[in-house]
Formats: sequence, structure tokens, C-alpha cells
Amino acid sequence: MSTTRFIANKTARAATQKVDVDFLSVKHAKVARDFFSTIDGYAPTPLVGLPALAADLGVASFHVKDESKRFGLNAFKVLGCGFAIANHICEVLDTPISEMSMEKLCSAEVREAVGEITFVSATDGNHGRGVAWAANKLGQKSVIYMPKGSAKARLDNIRAEGADASITDMNYDDAVRLAWQNSQEKGWVMVQDTAWDGYEKIPGWIMQGYTTLAFEALEQFEEQEGARPTHVFLQAGVGSFAGGVQGLLAARYGDDRPKTVIVEPELADCIFRSAQAADGDPHFVTGDMATVMAGLACGEPNTVGWGILRDYSDGYISCPDWVAANGMRMLAAPKGSDPKVISGESGAVTTGIVECIMHRPELAAIRENLELDESSRVLVISTEGDTDPEMYRRITWYGAYPEVDE
Ligand SMILES: Cc1ncc(COP(=O)(O)O)c(C=O)c1O
Repeated sequence: MSTTRFIANKTARAATQKVDVDFLSVKHAKVARDFFSTIDGYAPTPLVGLPALAADLGVASFHVKDESKRFGLNAFKVLGCGFAIANHICEVLDTPISEMSMEKLCSAEVREAVGEITFVSATDGNHGRGVAWAANKLGQKSVIYMPKGSAKARLDNIRAEGADASITDMNYDDAVRLAWQNSQEKGWVMVQDTAWDGYEKIPGWIMQGYTTLAFEALEQFEEQEGARPTHVFLQAGVGSFAGGVQGLLAARYGDDRPKTVIVEPELADCIFRSAQAADGDPHFVTGDMATVMAGLACGEPNTVGWGILRDYSDGYISCPDWVAANGMRMLAAPKGSDPKVISGESGAVTTGIVECIMHRPELAAIRENLELDESSRVLVISTEGDTDPEMYRRITWYGAYPEVDE
């Protein structure tokens, strides 16, 4: 099947018992942002307004937070693993992260106090590059396992940060199990961007780290628009990123939070399927999950992230790969004098889906359900740039993954 599917969450706004999102509140987001601002090269990534696109879609405004500009790493992921690694070291030193700076963390004194650490992770690329970058800056080691089919350019970027990185013959979720097994056998510290029962502390820090970008985006949105967004579209792999952002929105705005929609590739739609099952539990997708959205090719939801998305998100979308490809093309060749945004497969799917929802008659019911209209202020986050340059070119130059009538 290749078609866009939508599930509305009827209880998102109901007064039902919901999981606690206090650990993602503004107070915690500020601690994360303050830590990152001690790193050389820190600057909020741009929030790019696209007025011509907004007019074309029939909404009041459309903004893209451009995470390709994050510390020169072409993706947002370092916000999670960098914050988790810093927290881990702070915990060993028994120092609160609010009193720690990157300079201190990199000092010989800290290096001597914590000794040699190997950080291990499984990743399609972006998270691994962040882990390798952070470990490298701290003078520590990293080992990275990538799922089969991972792009060579992404492997090379991880190796360039000094990691011992390899492409395995496993899917993402099995590569996670391999990393876990080795962490247990070899005494390595696993920095995985997903949680399961019994492994929640590091993923919790990762989700807190991601709130940095949401916090920045809300500040920038207020500055540029004098108001908060009415709709936020968030892409999900395991749901740590979406859960972190959703958590901050819920903690900060309560029932007045923007409408939030979770978007996934149909070949790896574990959050969508969990919502569809309606029993409250996470449900898995297995197999190769050969979606072009490599960053979203995950079949097992983060247990903590899933609880947040289940309780607070307004809807879930499962869509074909061409939607992401369309989003990339739209942002690469903008309308009128809108600025261009270089957005990769996992970064552009939310732009692609908003365009489909606003223009396609067969998706009118989604538009109506979400009350998307000329008064809507839409926020999407382009979570990566052209992290697979070859694929970026195939899609934006040669039209790979063309639009299909549903
Ligand atoms: C570019 C990009 N966007 C979004 C995501 C989704 O994040 P999560 O797996 O936390 O849902 C990823 C994950 O690797 C990613 O690389």
C-alpha cells in the first residue's frame, strides 16, 4: 500500500490521566540551552519564514527551523547525545550540569578524574556523528554500529570524527541490541537515542537536550510573528525527538499548546501503528524498513517518547517516501523570494505532508480535522540537511521518488 493515512487522537485534549512531562519543562530546556551556549560555535539555528509558500498553501505563516546549521554537523542530533554525554560525565564527577561548561568538560583535570570512556551507539548516521563529535571533543573514544544500507557518506562523516564506525548487516533495532550487548560485555557506555524498560536515564537526557531547539524555535517564533505557532508537525523515528519537543510544548502551554501532528514513513510507522492499536502500548514494525527517510527507519518506539506522543499529540500520519522527496524539492526551489532551505529526506517530510494536506482534495478531511486554514501559523523542523549528498542530488536534480496519485 502506498497512501497517506491519518489517525486523530480524540483524547489529546481530554482531561484524562497523562504522563508527566515535567522533565521537559522550560526550566530543563534552559539548562540544556545554557550548556550548549558554552560551546564554541553555538548559535540558535535559523527559523526561516516562507511567506510565499504560506500564501500558496493558504495558511497565515509557514516557518522552518533549519537544523542543518547545528554546529556544522548538518543535523540536530548532537543536541541529544551531546547533552547526555555531558550529563553522564557530570554524574561521575557529582557536579550539576548547570555548573558545567564545555571548556571544563574538556579540561585535563576532568579527563583525569573520569578516566578513559568508550561511548557506543547504533545509528543511521546523524546520531552517530553527534556521539563521535562529542566523544572526540572530550578526548574519549566512540564505537558506532550502522544498519545495513547506510550511506557511505554518512559512515565517512562519523569516521572523520575519530569513531570506530562500521555498517552492519542488521536493521536499526538489531544494531541497537548489538551495541547494548557490547556495552554490557566491554564496560562501554551506551548512548542510545531510544529508551526501553530499564534503559531510560540516558534517553531522558537526550530528550532534554532536544528541547534546546524547541525552546529556541518558540523564542524566535514569538520574535518574528508576535505569537506562538498554532500547528507543529514533527517527524518520528523512535519518537525521542518528537517526544522531547511535544513534552516542552505540553509542559509550557498546557491545554493551550499548539496542535501537534506526528509524521512517519509508511515503511517504519511504529508510532502510527501504536496509536492505531489503541491499547496504549508501543507496537513494533520489523524487517528492513527500506524507506528513503533513513533517520526515521526505526521500528520500535522509545517507551518514554511513546507515552508522551500517545497522551499529548493531536494526530499521527503515515505517508509514502515521495512526500519527503516533494518536501526536499519544495525547500530546494522555493516560491517567489522565499529563501532556500537545504533539507534531507528525514528533514523535509513534514513540509511535504503539509503541502499534501493543504492541496489534495482527498486529504481534505485531515485539513478539517486539524483546523488548518488561513489563520494557521505552521512550524516544521528540518532536522537534517543533505546528509546523503548523492541521494539529495538524485531527488532534487533528477526527480527521484516522483509524486504519485493516491
Ligand atoms: C534527521 C533526523 N530527523 C528525525 C529523526 C527522528 O528522531 P527520533 O528517532 O528520535 O524519532 C532522526 C533520527 O535519527 C534523524 O536523523
